[in-house]
Amino acid sequence: MNTPLPSDLRTRLGAARPFLLTALVALLIAGFVAAAVAHAPTRPLVWMVAYLVLVAGVAQGVLGLGQALLPVQLPTTRWCTAEWLLFNGGNAGVIAGTLLAAPALVAVGTALFVAALLAFLLGVRGAGRGWLLHAFRAVLAVTCLGACVGLALSFARVAA
Ligand code: HEM
Repeated sequence: MNTPLPSDLRTRLGAARPFLLTALVALLIAGFVAAAVAHAPTRPLVWMVAYLVLVAGVAQGVLGLGQALLPVQLPTTRWCTAEWLLFNGGNAGVIAGTLLAAPALVAVGTALFVAALLAFLLGVRGAGRGWLLHAFRAVLAVTCLGACVGLALSFARVAA
C-alpha cells in the first residue's frame, strides 16, 4: 500500500517541479544534440551540450530542489515564476549569443542569469546553517563565477 506524502512535502515538491521539468528537458536536448553531432562535432555545439548538462540541467535541478526544501517558508509562486523566467531567459540568451558569436547578447543573458542567482540566494533566507545550505550557496558561487568567466571569454573571442 502506498503511504501518501505529507501535504507540506507535496507543496514543496510542487514548487520545485517547473525547475526539475526544465532541467530534464535540457538534459534530453543535450543528449540528442550530442548524438546528432557526434560524427562532426564543432566547438560551439560541444560547449552548448556541456552548458545544457551542467547549467540548464544539473544546476537548475539542484537550485530548484534546494529552494523548495531548505527555507522554513517557501518563496511565493510569483517569486519562483520570475526566477524561472530569469534563469531560463538568461540561458537562452547565453546560448544564442555564443552560437551567433554575439557577446552583447551573451551579456544580456548573463545579466538575467545573475539576477536569477541573486533571487535563489534570497529565496533560501532563514534556512538555518546546515551543510546543505552551504552546498546550495557553493553551487550559486560556482555558477556565478562561471558566468563571469564565460562573459569575459565571449568578448575576448570576438576581439581576437
Ligand atoms: C558551472 C560551471 C562552469 C564551468 C566549469 C565553465 C567552464 C567553461 C569553459 C572551460 C569554457 C571554455 C570552452 C571553450 O574552450 O570553448 C566556457 C565557455 C563559456 N562559458 Fe562557461 N562554465 C561554467 C558556467 C557558465 C555559466 C553559468 C555561464 C553563463 C551564464 C557560462 C558562459 C560561458 C560562455 C558564454 C562561454 C563561451 C565563451 C566563448 O567562447 O564565446 N559558463 N565555460
